[in-house]
Amino acid sequence: MTRHIGPGRPRALDLYCCQGGASAGLAAAGYDVTGVDKDPQPRYPFRFVQADALAYLRQLITTGEIHEYVLVTASPPCQRRTKCQKIRGREHPALIAPTRALLQATGLPYVIENVPPEGEDDDPLINPVELCGAMFPGLHTYRHRHFESNLPLAVPVHPVHEKPTVKMGRPVEPGQWYHAVGNFSGVGYIRDDLGVPWMNRDGLRECIPPVFAEYIGRQLWDRVTRYSGRAALRTAA
Ligand SMILES: C[S@@+](CC[C@H](N)C(=O)[O-])C[C@H]1O[C@@H](n2cnc3c(N)ncnc32)[C@H](O)[C@@H]1O
Repeated sequence: MTRHIGPGRPRALDLYCCQGGASAGLAAAGYDVTGVDKDPQPRYPFRFVQADALAYLRQLITTGEIHEYVLVTASPPCQRRTKCQKIRGREHPALIAPTRALLQATGLPYVIENVPPEGEDDDPLINPVELCGAMFPGLHTYRHRHFESNLPLAVPVHPVHEKPTVKMGRPVEPGQWYHAVGNFSGVGYIRDDLGVPWMNRDGLRECIPPVFAEYIGRQLWDRVTRYSGRAALRTAA
């Protein structure tokens, strides 16, 4: 069955949405986005559900409401032993495997995003592709992220890293690229660069550049909107 694009936009569910970097990219690609996060996200700029992502997704599958969506994306927090984990000194449960199992149970196209593993660590994602800020003119950060999907994803050739990056905590000097990790400087500059003026420092630290999600959302558009499920298209709110 091929679905027809009606008066509304196809809906995407963005699990672990935080302040909405991935969601903003999906919205720019044309999706009507709903975000889910366990914490309140007053800065999140789209429809928002505060819930445990796994419990909420399980409920949508049980009730059949998942078929209102054409695409589900998920950014579980980075796992033990990754660089960001060590920097933040926090413990997170391993969420990728249970998230994947539920995403597979939806029968819908899905994308899981995570940071690349450090050193010799195995990548918890299956056959991921990597995006890098240097692939996107206008960005001034490398911010590598890995993406797994049950649909094939194409990515550009990884460019050589030619720009020096600023040292942690120092202001960005002309010609340098930034790392929005730890106690970074230049919140205003980084908001502008990533195109996320609503975010605070915590959101900037966590987010993927919206252009990454927009790139993937546009690439999947034809396939997810023709997907042979029962997803409804929401009429414009
Ligand atoms: C890496 S951030 C996501 C960043 C987001 N994709 C973006 O681009 O802005 C991970 C988020 O997962 C949320 N989170 C952690 N465990 C969760 C759970 N069990 N259910 C829902 N959200 C959870 C955290 O509160 C955090 O906001």
